[in-house]
Amino acid sequence: MAYETLIVEKREDGIAVVTINRPKVLNALNATVIDELEKCFTELKDDPQVKAVILTGAGDKAFVAGADISGLVELNPLQGKEFAERGQRVFNLIENLGKPVIAAINGYALGGGCELAMACTLRVASEKAKLGQPEVNLGIIPGYGGTQRLPRLVGKGRAMELILTGRMVDAQEAYQIGLVNKVVPHEKLMDEAIELAKTIMSKGPLAVKYAMEAVNRGLEVSLEEGLRIEADLFGICCATEDKTEGTKAFLEKRKPNFQGR
Ligand code: COA
Repeated sequence: MAYETLIVEKREDGIAVVTINRPKVLNALNATVIDELEKCFTELKDDPQVKAVILTGAGDKAFVAGADISGLVELNPLQGKEFAERGQRVFNLIENLGKPVIAAINGYALGGGCELAMACTLRVASEKAKLGQPEVNLGIIPGYGGTQRLPRLVGKGRAMELILTGRMVDAQEAYQIGLVNKVVPHEKLMDEAIELAKTIMSKGPLAVKYAMEAVNRGLEVSLEEGLRIEADLFGICCATEDKTEGTKAFLEKRKPNFQGR
């Protein structure tokens, strides 16, 4: 499918690279980008050839510099609520895709850009990346999940500080506080993101899917309930051919050949 604001490359190795392509406005998220992200990720979810996704921004400067501020000016309260809910739905789709989604953060990831990166499964940052939630500078709060996902990733105290001051953190600080998983030289960003995707793709695909589900669902409930979710999904893994293959291959001292069944 052709998009106005996205470039989608499906590689032969099963990785889809999605690039948000509005470099003149630092890849700011307008309604078209949000609509197209929904269409694109729905399609990638259903495509059995796609095993992992890398999400990045066009150009050398930004991953995504936030929601498009020109679209915020006229929002009334009802539209504001709908605006936030719309973005949240699309980001939830990305978070719960059932396949790993790696954010390759190539520059500014601010506001909605930081929120988008946090909805991804893992984050690899260029050493040039800068992340933050600067919404308070505009008299608003994060609306695409920032007040919820940031404290889950970095803890309440750090999240409060970043959200209330709007302070940007550089890639190293983002790594230190757990906001990104890895910092790499700028020119190696895509290679490193692909490497990480391939490492995950070499594991049992259903195990990867259920592990992500256990972590995501478990974080929303009590420990007791989370452990029940884990045990249920562990049980489901035991019904898969991948589990038979993985355990047998270990005992036979060979590499497993997972089929995702
Ligand atoms: N929405 C709409 N346009 C944006 C944008 C956004 N979130 N972020 C950047 N742009 C536009 C700028 O208006 C500018 O357009 P112009 O060339 O027509 O003037 C262009 O992108 C380049 O940005 P510029 O500000 O000139 O680059 P810079 O290097 O001086 O600063 C930033 C980079 C990221 C620090 C700065 O653009 C910024 O603060 N952006 C807004 C971040 C933000 O508040 N995001 C949260 C939104 S809820």
